[in-house]
Amino acid sequence: MKILSIETSCDETAVSIVEAEGGLDSPSFKVLGNALFSQIAIHKEYGGVYPMLAKREHAKNLAPLLEKSLKDAGLLKNQQNNHTEEFWKDVENILSREEGLFPALKETFKDIDKPNIDAISVTSGPGLEPALWVGISFATALGKLWNIPVIGVNHMEGHIASVLIENIDERKVEFPALAVLISGGHTEIVKINSWGKYKVIGQTVDDAVGEAFDKVARLLGLPYPGGPEISRLAEKAREENLPHTAKLPRPMLHSNNLNFSFSGLKTAVLYYIRDHFSGSFENMNEENKSDLAREFEDAVIDVLREKTNEALKENNVKTLIVGGGVIANKKLKDVFIDFENKYSGLVVKIPTRGLATDNSLMIAVAAYINTCLYPEILTNTKKIIAKGNLGFE
Ligand code: KG4
Ligand code: ZN
Repeated sequence: MKILSIETSCDETAVSIVEAEGGLDSPSFKVLGNALFSQIAIHKEYGGVYPMLAKREHAKNLAPLLEKSLKDAGLLKNQQNNHTEEFWKDVENILSREEGLFPALKETFKDIDKPNIDAISVTSGPGLEPALWVGISFATALGKLWNIPVIGVNHMEGHIASVLIENIDERKVEFPALAVLISGGHTEIVKINSWGKYKVIGQTVDDAVGEAFDKVARLLGLPYPGGPEISRLAEKAREENLPHTAKLPRPMLHSNNLNFSFSGLKTAVLYYIRDHFSGSFENMNEENKSDLAREFEDAVIDVLREKTNEALKENNVKTLIVGGGVIANKKLKDVFIDFENKYSGLVVKIPTRGLATDNSLMIAVAAYINTCLYPEILTNTKKIIAKGNLGFE
């Protein structure tokens, strides 16, 4: 089946067309079209993602990205349509809260033939509420325009499903499995008993891990997103063997559960700068910053390593899946890969860069899983699964 997929939960606007087949036993996916616009440069100024700005950018980019994706997939065909004014009014109503989106959609798609698509999937949560709604409204409007069922997908299920996309890894996902999802918006350990059965067994009680990287980078006067900047400095400290004097706590390391807390670590960085550099990064040289970046990165990695190790010890799993933008961190990635050496028979699956960060391919894959598990969602064209919480406990 062909799935048109939309992701707008944070600062990536993404639209793709994926052909899926094989069922749950041997799923396979072919990417027919994949268009993505990252808003990072736009949010840089604010030092983080600004939800209302993200919403406006999504509204601006969705129609052109969809057009590109359909074109790449060879599914964009001109045809005169005879929709009534009343019909267009209904579509407009669906998009009434998304400024500029209706005119863009009508202009781009009024004389386009209904594409050969079986389902539309869209991230319906969790994420930034205003950003999510643009995608959901757009998907609903397209569903109406082309009379195609719309499937709401849980974003976290998308991150988990991302490892199924072709060519990443030949090894199968065997259950039970564990997923560690680490990004700017989430930090979760999820136990997966089978596709569609997910239980969150650990999560952050405050900031997400990527958020902590971003906030600490700000304290050091580094640009957004902070993760790559911090890891660059940390790497420099290690490679050049710079003096290592900064000391930070390892929050919740011995908390006897699988939860995380990163806000205290950020505060510890704030106090460290206050006590040693009169409260400002301007009094720090590159060496001081590199030392603190290294200690911060080590603290985060120690906690993630230990919590994942605990989760692996407690749950006898066959697969460890890691997703989210923070896995771009080389040192952290090596820590996760190393679990294959510690636990015999364990397969560690880490998506490639573009699939680990937010994208719409993973949302299509999760939608396909759901159509295999619950075929009725394809015939109920009105229903968007509320919040996409299907299967999550
Ligand atoms: O998955 P993602 O692209 O978007 C969200 O859903 O948030 O993740 C972005 C996050 C940002 O917080 C960014 O600072 C972090 O991933 N990140 C990193 C690295 N590269 C990106 N964190 C640590 N080390 C990195 N090399
Ligand atoms: Zn994400």
